[in-house]
Amino acid sequence: MGVFSKDRFLGVDFGTESIKAVELELRGGSAYLTNYGEATLFSPQDPKRPAVRSFQEDIAIHFRALLTRMNPGTREVCISMPSFLGLISLIDFPQMTDAELEEAVRFEARKYIPSPLEEVSLSWESIGRKSEPDPSADAASAASSRTEVLLVAALNKDVAQYEGYVKSVGYGMKLLELETFSIVRAVVGERSGTSLVIDVGARAANLILVEDGFVKKSRSIDAGGRDITRALAESLNISSDRADALKKSGKDFLNAKDVAIILPAIETIVSEADRMIGAWKAKRPGAEIGRIILSGGTSRLAGLPQYLSKRLGIPAELSDPWKSVEIPSALRPKIGSIGSSFSVAIGLALFGVAEAKRKK
Ligand SMILES: Nc1ncnc2c1ncn2[C@@H]1O[C@H](COP(=O)(O)OP(=O)(O)OP(=O)(O)O)[C@@H](O)[C@H]1O
Ligand SMILES: [Mg+2]
Repeated sequence: MGVFSKDRFLGVDFGTESIKAVELELRGGSAYLTNYGEATLFSPQDPKRPAVRSFQEDIAIHFRALLTRMNPGTREVCISMPSFLGLISLIDFPQMTDAELEEAVRFEARKYIPSPLEEVSLSWESIGRKSEPDPSADAASAASSRTEVLLVAALNKDVAQYEGYVKSVGYGMKLLELETFSIVRAVVGERSGTSLVIDVGARAANLILVEDGFVKKSRSIDAGGRDITRALAESLNISSDRADALKKSGKDFLNAKDVAIILPAIETIVSEADRMIGAWKAKRPGAEIGRIILSGGTSRLAGLPQYLSKRLGIPAELSDPWKSVEIPSALRPKIGSIGSSFSVAIGLALFGVAEAKRKK
């Protein structure tokens, strides 16, 4: 039996390829890494997956095994849902009281959410940015600023499925959020200015526009590492296993002139990023996107930052979600090679750390 502590926080990311978990402890005001782990899942298409199990059952079995291995010092967990299961909308309102805003948000939500509101878990946050005052307006109305509200919604049935994973292992749920927010907490943190975060996993890519630490736009598209493996296998006429190994070998297929291969998944990400940047600049004339921050397992694809910088005309960098975490020296070499596929799990555990800090 592990030693339980109220200062230990466990973040768990249910990804398509693997479940990733990070346990942090609040020690002297810092987040200290006490444990981490990963359990590889069978993909729904994998012929080796036992036919008797559903993908959900597979998750429950691997989640339990991962926790047994890690033996965390807490029985509460912060988890996330994939961004594609949620809806994030930024809505502009005139300044009003909280009660008025509550009513206005519920009214507006109907326009954005295609399902009946009874079937939806809804949350919203006023993120307070004042729109530029209209110079042609008179003094009184120029002073009456507007407020931006971020509306977040997900279907109750999807929320129940994720809650079910936590119940199945007998843990309590401290937090359930869209992974969009976990990623931003881990890779943007307090950095000011406007960033476009691009998180590329196995199945999906998340594109997140962040302004002074606040999520402003989020899009999830079906483009990920699996598509890249498939494209390499087809272009080079090799097996999927060989293509996967080649993809991870460090060979740069994106920028090298002689061996450049068009990867449709990357082109889809480029055009979606381009569209988001264009729409944002139209909404905020004069706005500059300072940087692209890459996260997720596929961000390790050789040459990806250079390629995206070139195509989008914005400097792109690989994120280091571990930078705000103190890592015991014994674990440092291992962590260095994992890179940013743990962004979501780290962001989730950091939620617990930040909340505990606020309470102290
Ligand atoms: N060195 C590497 N180079 C290129 N791709 C890599 C490398 N290492 C891992 N990947 C790819 O990263 C992907 C897994 O990333 P990640 O762990 O972020 O995905 P996931 O969270 O399980 O999936 P998703 O977020 O789509 O549900 C796989 O497609 C894997 O092949
Ligand atoms: Mg993921």
